[in-house]
Amino acid sequence: MKENVIFCYSGTGNCLDMAKNIAKKLGNTDIVMMRKYPAVTDVREAKRVGFVVPCYGGGLPGHVERYIRDIKVSPDAYTFGIGQCAAYKGEGLSKINELIPLKYWAVLSHQCTCIYLFPHNLMLPKMSAERAQARSEDHAEQFAEDIKNGVITKKKISKAYLNRLEHAAWPAIARKKAQALKANSNCIKCGQCARICPAGNIRYTGDAVIFGDKCISCMGCVQYCPKQAINVGKVTEKRERYHNPNITVEDLTQDIISFD
Ligand SMILES: Cc1cc2nc3c(=O)[nH]c(=O)nc-3n(C[C@H](O)[C@H](O)[C@H](O)COP(=O)(O)O)c2cc1C
Repeated sequence: MKENVIFCYSGTGNCLDMAKNIAKKLGNTDIVMMRKYPAVTDVREAKRVGFVVPCYGGGLPGHVERYIRDIKVSPDAYTFGIGQCAAYKGEGLSKINELIPLKYWAVLSHQCTCIYLFPHNLMLPKMSAERAQARSEDHAEQFAEDIKNGVITKKKISKAYLNRLEHAAWPAIARKKAQALKANSNCIKCGQCARICPAGNIRYTGDAVIFGDKCISCMGCVQYCPKQAINVGKVTEKRERYHNPNITVEDLTQDIISFD
């Protein structure tokens, strides 16, 4: 195991891009993906342990909290959490902080990937994908510098009680939205949607794409489909697709990404 470990969940690449930029700057880092059950959970030998996660419906995506409950960190480790959102940080980092107290934390907005709710540039503050990406890369430099120097964030992470209520209602909303997922006649049956789905919710039979009932609404299938053939009802048909420009399907489906 490397000296530094970053646990990362990412549906459409923004968080993985942030984790990679921090890891490159830190060096000697393993990024352990939390889309599937993490390949490593006992990281008591690591000197620094971090989490890079997006806000979904006011809190942590799908199964991420359950996975984090199994992670074992040395009490001497330097711990950090970086949250990504479109507008507000939600309760995700405070949930992680309850399980694994965080010494350093920060939140940054990026493009909105919840395509059935908003166009991608409707983030706060509103900006283009290029501007948001450049801003994210600048912040990654600063976060990595702070992490290297062992900076402690003085401000406490708020409990975000309203977001807790929002997030409690979220799974039902996500499930309802998932019922509207459909591949149209532009589908070229490449099976990429099935590969990218972190919930194992999409079955590709060779001549059909079948959506199950375990969707966590990451929108990876919609945003990465090479033919824009997957929609969530009518609203997404005319909406421009977005995924992080630096992150491929292959990147997202790794178990561990290592940096020397
Ligand atoms: C299903 C879903 C729900 C989201 N909910 C929120 C939210 O409650 N608040 C917010 O500010 N951003 C929300 N977002 C936006 C993401 O947090 C943001 O786009 C993030 O950069 C996505 O990271 P990723 O590309 O690594 O998955 C949501 C995105 C998705 C797909």
